[in-house]
Amino acid sequence: MKKTWRRILSAMILAVMIWAGAIAPLPGAGAEVFLNQEKPADWEERDLLRITALSFIQNDAFVLECGGEVMLLDGGSALRGDDLHQFLAEHDMLHVKMIFNSHPHDDHIEALYLNIKNSGLTADEFISPFPADYKLKGDYQRKMVSLLEEKGIPFRQMLPGEQLQLGGTVMTLYRAEKGDTNATSGVLMIRFGKASILMTGDISGEAEKLIMADVGEEALKADILKAPHHGIMRMVSAFLTAVSPELGIVTSRKDTKAQEQFENKKIPCIWTSLGDTVLETDGTDWYVNQENKWVKK
Ligand SMILES: [Fe+2]
Repeated sequence: MKKTWRRILSAMILAVMIWAGAIAPLPGAGAEVFLNQEKPADWEERDLLRITALSFIQNDAFVLECGGEVMLLDGGSALRGDDLHQFLAEHDMLHVKMIFNSHPHDDHIEALYLNIKNSGLTADEFISPFPADYKLKGDYQRKMVSLLEEKGIPFRQMLPGEQLQLGGTVMTLYRAEKGDTNATSGVLMIRFGKASILMTGDISGEAEKLIMADVGEEALKADILKAPHHGIMRMVSAFLTAVSPELGIVTSRKDTKAQEQFENKKIPCIWTSLGDTVLETDGTDWYVNQENKWVKK
């Protein structure tokens, strides 16, 4: 009898705590991901975060829209410059709030450089986790910084833990403290309501461990994971377990190492080689649809 009363009392206390908001939602209780499914009829009327992953192969280019603001996250190589321009011009996005470059390698920065130089792309600011004088083969960072000066676009180095805002979307920078250019790519944890997506640049093994040690496993949990380094390297298995995505994105062709890991964990996966991919969330659900309208070789 006593045990029964204790159980009833515990249940009542728990109910009151939940009602009073004293207990946070369970960790990992994110947004649900619907892949290639019809969106609700009133979807367009909702406040949305829309991310378009352009159909490039071993190139990263994402266009983010939220609350009437636009941001570019990487842009692809010089070969993709015209494609990026076509997308931005067609969507009236030649001026954006910010451009974030995960790292200054050709397949992430060159198309941005060419569009700013020759095709009228402007931004309120250009953001990089790397310093303005960062030296590397090809000297993309310093070339970009001098172009930005010429065009009057402010350059800003963003530090780990700092945040960006795009409409109601909040992005936090994670970054490995040591390693080469790929390893020290800026990683953005992007959150809108309950929804989250982890954009990982070109990090791999050691950098994944360093970030995990720095921010903790819980801070890596995301509904969607862009596979690091175009999916061509194996992820540290503890890193994939920490993120535990419902969906993986590979910015490359099929048959990558990441695909195998996603499949082993029964996580669906999409490849940007198969078409433009549009990821939309209202903060509660994700609708992810791929348009096979153009396939780049
Ligand atoms: Fe890359």
